Amino acid sequence: MKNKGSRVCAVTGGASGIGLSIAEYLCGNGYTVGIVDLKIDSLNSLFKSEIKSGKIAAAKADITSQKEVENAFDAIRNDLGGVDVLINSAGVLVSKSFLKEDENDWDRVVNVNLKGAYLCCKAVVPGMIKNNFGRIVSISSISGLKQAVFSSTAYCASKAGIIGFSRCLAAQLAGNNIRVNCVAPSTTLTPMIDVLDEKTKNDYKEAVPLGRLAKPEDIVYAVDFLISDRSDYITGETLNVNGGLLMR
Ligand SMILES: NC(=O)c1ccc[n+]([C@@H]2O[C@H](COP(=O)([O-])OP(=O)(O)OC[C@H]3O[C@@H](n4cnc5c(N)ncnc54)[C@H](O)[C@@H]3O)[C@@H](O)[C@H]2O)c1
Repeated sequence: MKNKGSRVCAVTGGASGIGLSIAEYLCGNGYTVGIVDLKIDSLNSLFKSEIKSGKIAAAKADITSQKEVENAFDAIRNDLGGVDVLINSAGVLVSKSFLKEDENDWDRVVNVNLKGAYLCCKAVVPGMIKNNFGRIVSISSISGLKQAVFSSTAYCASKAGIIGFSRCLAAQLAGNNIRVNCVAPSTTLTPMIDVLDEKTKNDYKEAVPLGRLAKPEDIVYAVDFLISDRSDYITGETLNVNGGLLMR
């Protein structure tokens, strides 16, 4: 079994919010980290010493483009020697009612949140099969599991879709020692929710049994568990991190 210290973890959406917190945490806890994001300029100053020492590499890509995804993962593999773990965190939220949401919204949200994760898996799974080792965790959402008021239908469909996608992939790859799981957060304090007004955020907070919105670290610890050897008998699962908002 490969020890954690030598594992390379690629994090999409690692330039902001949950993905950035995952990248920071894993880098500080024995992983080498490759960040794939549309916006990577800020990372060069944020992770100056880690990039210099080869603990972090960043590659720019729009994950809706197969070519850009392939190039980005080639660059990560060149810089870091492979990809053992993939975290699909890149995502976009459109918060509109069904009548206001249009086809462009649908295409953008489904392309980034669902097709993007599919393309990233396509880029790493052959190498994982070759190594007979892989861990994939995708960030779904409570919006994929229960009725959502502020999200759009496209967002909810994409987040439900990633759960079905992950189950199918988990079943197909289980024999290759590749585990595939999701984490489904409720509203988390990241730049993604800047579109919500204070009243909406407060209403959400008050609805949560544990009495607060999620912090990025709450999601990070769930991801860390699912990529660690402590969860070696768990695949095709969705771990809810929602303060009790949805109990299943
Ligand atoms: N924040 C929440 O309340 C919340 C709740 C549940 C689930 N999620 C999910 O968690 C994940 C992370 O969200 P966040 O809150 O950290 O958001 P965020 O906006 O802070 O970060 C998203 C990152 O994805 C990147 N990204 C967007 N489109 C991209 C593209 N086409 N190609 C490459 N990178 C792209 C952005 O540049 C950004 O760095 C998302 O999948 C989101 O749907 C968030």
